[in-house]
Amino acid sequence: MSVIQSLRALEILDSRGRPTVQATCVLNDGTTATASVPSGRSTGSAEALELRDGDLKRYGGLGCRTAVGNVNHLLAPALIGAELPDQSTLDYRLCELDGTDNKSRLGANTILAVSLVFARAQAKQRGLPLYRHFADLLGIEPKLPGLTINLFSGGKHAEAQVAIQDVLIAPQTDSIADGLAMMYAIYQSAAALIKDKYGMRALTADEGGLAPPAPNDEVLLADAVQAIERAGYRPGEDAKLALDVASSHFFKDGRYHLHGQVLSGEEMVDLLLDWSRRYPLVSIEDGLAEEDWLHWSSLCSRIEGTRVLGDDLLCTNPARIRYAMENKAANALLLKVNQIGTLSEAAEAHRLARSAGWEVVISARSGETEDNWLGDLSTGWAGDYIKVGSITQSERLAKYNRLLEIEELMNEE
Ligand code: PGA
Ligand code: ZN
Repeated sequence: MSVIQSLRALEILDSRGRPTVQATCVLNDGTTATASVPSGRSTGSAEALELRDGDLKRYGGLGCRTAVGNVNHLLAPALIGAELPDQSTLDYRLCELDGTDNKSRLGANTILAVSLVFARAQAKQRGLPLYRHFADLLGIEPKLPGLTINLFSGGKHAEAQVAIQDVLIAPQTDSIADGLAMMYAIYQSAAALIKDKYGMRALTADEGGLAPPAPNDEVLLADAVQAIERAGYRPGEDAKLALDVASSHFFKDGRYHLHGQVLSGEEMVDLLLDWSRRYPLVSIEDGLAEEDWLHWSSLCSRIEGTRVLGDDLLCTNPARIRYAMENKAANALLLKVNQIGTLSEAAEAHRLARSAGWEVVISARSGETEDNWLGDLSTGWAGDYIKVGSITQSERLAKYNRLLEIEELMNEE
């Protein structure tokens, strides 16, 4: 049984220098924990609401003082002293106190800060590493995830130099340590390739991916294959690719606008099928726009060997996942806890996805903090893959470095 003795929030800054929420909680036995929430830029319309102050004179309206005030003045008085046996009791209470479908009263950032900090405090109270506690929330055994690491960026994370958002490398190694070492070599090789090809040092995007001025989207896929080869690895065997097309963000008036081309839904499906045949893709995320359900189903029924991964489509929302299952619109879930706002609802999304035999990819946001709980979540919830961004920025490395620690801990067990 846990009883919260104190609960406070603080406005801190994320990796883009924008405000976000950090919460600290003390349990009645003195156990203390802190946790911070991330924030997206390429967001899905069905995500729970991220509460921002809207005062344009401060952080362009992005301040989180209202969210912080909601923790300190609304949630703390309601929760302090209450008996909270487990995570779902707390999360249920948080949803009840908010009272809306999309957390629009208190804010999903407000609520998630409290949901997360409570999980970390309970793990400490139980004397368990956080990944073990997360695994217990689902009643499963922890397992380290595979890696999908950002190599090239476009879309909203790189001012749309190219339309697609991420080309990722999926090292086919048995360990996190080996995967990261391989990724270092591929990243260096890609940086050198870009210098040769475009005559410039490639700028990096929000998640630390290289953002070369490629003439079109497919060139990035070809460049990624070449970077793998130039690093001395075999594309498709030693390292595969993953794509986040994030196509909702270039879908206008029922058409896909990428690199001077305007494609119908069917043509977009054909393009993705063509890429999946010619490149070693483990998954294609958001290949179609978030409401283009028909073409999601068409892609899903025709594609072979590449997972159809829903991010903006599903928004970690159990109702949307159910609808996607009924319509066979996807076969993998990108899970981002802040899209839904509590760990327990994200756990339900996870259970649903697994019940349909889907893969689950546990993902960070493009605006991250140095908090490393995602390393634990991706292991505790046995994600098939983790998606955190590149290997060059500390807010990303906090998670990779945590996975290295967890790998060591699990080897010792
Ligand atoms: P976001 O994007 O965190 O900026 O929303 C990440 C993604 O689309 O996967
Ligand atoms: Zn995405």
